Amino acid sequence: DQQPIIIQGPMPIEAENFAAKLENVEEETSGNFLFYKGEVNDYPVIVMKTGKGMENTAAATAIAIEKFDPKAIINQGTSGGHDPDLHVFDIVLGERMVNIGSLKTGNRDEGEGIAPTEWIPMDLMASEGSAGEDPDAENIRYFEGDKDLLAAAKAVKKTHEEGKVVEGTIGSADVWNNEVDRIQWFHENYGTSVEEMETASGAQIAKAYDVPYLGVRILSNNKTNGGEYNPDTAAANQEYVYKVVKQYISTE
Ligand code: 5AD
Repeated sequence: DQQPIIIQGPMPIEAENFAAKLENVEEETSGNFLFYKGEVNDYPVIVMKTGKGMENTAAATAIAIEKFDPKAIINQGTSGGHDPDLHVFDIVLGERMVNIGSLKTGNRDEGEGIAPTEWIPMDLMASEGSAGEDPDAENIRYFEGDKDLLAAAKAVKKTHEEGKVVEGTIGSADVWNNEVDRIQWFHENYGTSVEEMETASGAQIAKAYDVPYLGVRILSNNKTNGGEYNPDTAAANQEYVYKVVKQYISTE
C-alpha cells in the first residue's frame, strides 16, 4: 500500500476547502482532530483539521504519524507578516521553521522590571539537562523544510496568481504579536518572514519520527505594512497546496 500524504489545517476555513477536493472521502475522528481520508489522482491523501495552536498541532501530528505512517506532511494555513516586503496573499514556503515562544528571560531582581528585548532564545532539544542552566540551550532551534516537498512547491510557484511565493522562515508560538517593534525584533533576530501558531510544533514532532515535513503559509495580515486581515487567503492557500500535492505525487 502507498503511504498517504497528510495536509494539516488548523481552522475549518483552512482545511475544509482542501477536504472538498478529495475523492472517495471517509471521515475519522480522534479526540478533537478530524481526518478526511481520501484520494488525489488515485493517491492516498489525508486532510486533517487540527485545531489552532502549538499543543493541538503537536498532538495531532504524533497521532497522525502513529495511525497512518505518512510519506510526508504539509502544514498549511494563514499567517501574519514579519517582512514588510511581503503582502496579504503572498505565500511563504518554510525553508526554516522556528518556535518563537521558547525563550529565557534575563536575570532581574525584585523591582528591576521586565525587559523582553533582552530575552534570549531557548532550545529545548539541545540536551537532556536543565534548559535553564545549559549554555548549549541558549540557541535558536531551526527545523528545516523537506527538500523534495520544497522542490514540488517551487515547481508550481507560478500557478499562484494572487501573490508571490517565496522561501523563508516561519515563526510559531501561541502568541498573536501586534506590537510592530516586537515583530521587527523577531524579524531581525530570528529572520522570520511570517508568524503563526502551528508550523514549528508539527515540525518538531515530524523530525522526531523522521517524516518529511513542510510549512506553507499565506499572509492573511501584515501589521508592518498595513496589510489588513483577509480570510479569503485561507482558500487561496489550499488551492496552491493542492497543486503542490499533485506535483509531488507526479514525481513519485
Ligand atoms: N499571528 C499569529 N497567528 C496568526 N494566524 C494568522 N495570522 C496570525 C498572526 N498575525 C493564524 C494562527 C492561528 C490563528 C489565530 O490564525 O496560525 O491558527
